[in-house]
Amino acid sequence: MTRLLSFAWIFCSLASAEPSSPDLIQRIAFGSCANQNLEQPVWDPVIAAKPDLFLFVGDNIYADTEDLELMKAKYAKLAAKPGYQKLKQACPILATWDDHDYGVNDGGAWYPKREESAKIMLDFFEVPADSPRRGRPGIYGAHTFGPPGKRVQVILLDTRTFKSRPLKDTRGKEELRELNLVGWYVPNPDPATTILGAGQWAWLGQQLRQPADLRFIASSIQVIADEKGMESWGNFPHERKRLYQLIADTKAEGVVFLSGDVHFSEVSRTAEGPYPLSDFTSSGLTNSHPGWAAAVNTHRVSPTAYAKPTFGLVTIDWAAPSPRVSLQARGLDGETALEVKLSCADLRPPAEP
Ligand SMILES: [Fe+2]
Repeated sequence: MTRLLSFAWIFCSLASAEPSSPDLIQRIAFGSCANQNLEQPVWDPVIAAKPDLFLFVGDNIYADTEDLELMKAKYAKLAAKPGYQKLKQACPILATWDDHDYGVNDGGAWYPKREESAKIMLDFFEVPADSPRRGRPGIYGAHTFGPPGKRVQVILLDTRTFKSRPLKDTRGKEELRELNLVGWYVPNPDPATTILGAGQWAWLGQQLRQPADLRFIASSIQVIADEKGMESWGNFPHERKRLYQLIADTKAEGVVFLSGDVHFSEVSRTAEGPYPLSDFTSSGLTNSHPGWAAAVNTHRVSPTAYAKPTFGLVTIDWAAPSPRVSLQARGLDGETALEVKLSCADLRPPAEP
């Protein structure tokens, strides 16, 4: 299928409910944390990597406002970047949000402009008027691509609209420094608190029951890394346990998490799921923070944490006897800064004896 026809299929598929496209996905680029006030040279290496799809996984702009006209003006700054315009020509774009583009730092369900912000965000990313993403609270959604046997599902979680307040870490700066923690938050044991909210949980269960060979679950905040005290699923341990259990209960094979937010890149892994689950964090497109990258993460399986402007590239080799997936953090020269390889054979529960 030609690239142009391929585009038509994908855009066509994006317009319908939980669509399926015949197009093969072999390369997905993604990223987070794009400050619209900075130069964004990252788009050149993103486009040079020839992705079939680009995913914004949050902090796509730094809005941080309840002034909706100001928010739109900040999106317009992203739209005005020549690199972003080239990206729009190069491949389809899907997006979810994090706190800053949602509207408030570390924000959640208490942000009063969440409905208006959702409309601005969905309009900016040209989500079709009849998309199910527009017919319910929040901005979560899912898309599938490719034929049976090579089917990729992309699940875009909304970790903001329904999120409860995290618990603050009250320890002193000196103690946090000695423990090598960033140290803003600690796990909230209250089972009444949530990240996804009841409606999104029910929807996610339905999605995970759909047939797919690989499933990329985009969560703006890190799913597995949980020790440094920044925002993460680990701040709501009952919610994360529910996520892992849902993957087991739905027998959803091929799950890989994609996340952002933390201003550095790494791959983390846990054995708490029905099979080893990996979380590829790519952050940020413009912003990096070596100090946060140096904080503790005993779940890290990538050779390092990379704290320079970057994007994530996921490549899928469908031709291998068991399809293989490569997770690469790429730098501004297009170089691979870190890489972790997966086999689809390992993304399913071990066979019963
Ligand atoms: Fe964030």
